[in-house]
Amino acid sequence: MRIVLGVGGGIAAYKVASLLRLFTEAGHDVTVIPTEAATRFVGVATWEALSGHPVSNSVFDDVHQVNHVRLGHEADLIVVAPATADLLARAATGQANDLLTNTLLMASGPVLFAPAMHTEMWQHPATRANVETLRGRGAAVLEPASGRLTGSDSGPGRLPEPEAIFDAAIALTQGRSDYQLPLAGKTVTISAGGTREPLDPVRFLGNRSSGKQGVALAVAARNAGASVRLLAAHMEVPPPAGVEVVEVETALQLREAALAAAADSDVVIMAAAVADFRPAEISGTKIKKRDDAADPVISLVRNPDILHELVEVRDAAHDQARRSQLIVGFAAETGDGEGDVLAYAEAKLRRKGCDLLVVNHVGTDKVFGQDTNAVVILSRSGSEPQEASGSKTEVSTAVISRIGYELNHVSHRA
Ligand code: CTP
Repeated sequence: MRIVLGVGGGIAAYKVASLLRLFTEAGHDVTVIPTEAATRFVGVATWEALSGHPVSNSVFDDVHQVNHVRLGHEADLIVVAPATADLLARAATGQANDLLTNTLLMASGPVLFAPAMHTEMWQHPATRANVETLRGRGAAVLEPASGRLTGSDSGPGRLPEPEAIFDAAIALTQGRSDYQLPLAGKTVTISAGGTREPLDPVRFLGNRSSGKQGVALAVAARNAGASVRLLAAHMEVPPPAGVEVVEVETALQLREAALAAAADSDVVIMAAAVADFRPAEISGTKIKKRDDAADPVISLVRNPDILHELVEVRDAAHDQARRSQLIVGFAAETGDGEGDVLAYAEAKLRRKGCDLLVVNHVGTDKVFGQDTNAVVILSRSGSEPQEASGSKTEVSTAVISRIGYELNHVSHRA
């Protein structure tokens, strides 16, 4: 495909270098047209080197080729990222004061705008009207992602991740109407890793969860446009960029963090391996071995079932937004003589009351710490179990797109 990539003057312009790479690596021929302001963030040399084409933002360069006419006519797709408030306004009012806006007026193929700006600018009635105008004319305007913005502010207005813009652009050229990011504007809380229950100042009871699945889910949710909060128990992998991290150690700390985060979350995913029991007493000093004493005995008490409690709080809520929260559990199951994995998993789905249960079939230690996974997604709405397998990234993408589907198409809750 011949693609024109228009780059607006926003701090997110640097992310568009990755988008350009995705297009060129997929074999597309990309001409970059940065606005004058965009070149203050990323220089022309970067765009020329990455695209392999000369780059200009003036209609007065190479006048004999009438570039805006040629580029606009020839392009199979025009992508504008970041689409700033100014650029959306100029496009909506049909201005033609630089090469990019001229090219947009000459466009005959699909046009995708990926906006990025501060939340107030995105929500301003002027911008809303411009977006409606552009959509009304058939242009595709992505909902921006939510999360951390340029300064200390956060909210809707982040440029969607390059992979997400790439997917949306390809979907658009295939004539698909589902190019929007499935979790744009949604807040997703994900617990990951394994809790550690202290015995004394140096020892704990833990488990073998690496946190890889939870982190992969956080990446997939972020890429789908969500604002992501990662409740990180002990993890062997670092948390991803672009998500808010709350560190916890014990099941009780995770419970507190989960209940607090759930209060304003559209989705809660409990991917953490939560210890079902904790030592009844935590010794304030290191437990010593004494040759003359009997072997120590550790007594355990039950930890609260956080997933179940989240469901109870959601179901008891009065406001509609909270009641339509989607809650997702994970379960590691083994079959035995009395029942198969699915039968146990279905019983667990009913017991926990969550909307989706992602079931790992564990035989030996095939799941913990590994990069691959095979799961079945069970739904409370009674739809057919869905299988997903592959890398933890692939499984996470399947789980997140299923969540997007449930949020956008299934209204069985509340
Ligand atoms: N979970 C939780 N709180 C706990 C234990 C587990 O929120 N105290 C969550 C996990 O994060 C996971 C789901 O519950 O999403 C299933 O965990 P699992 O350990 O399989 O469930 P259990 O109820 O402990 O099942 P079993 O009876 O098989 O031990």
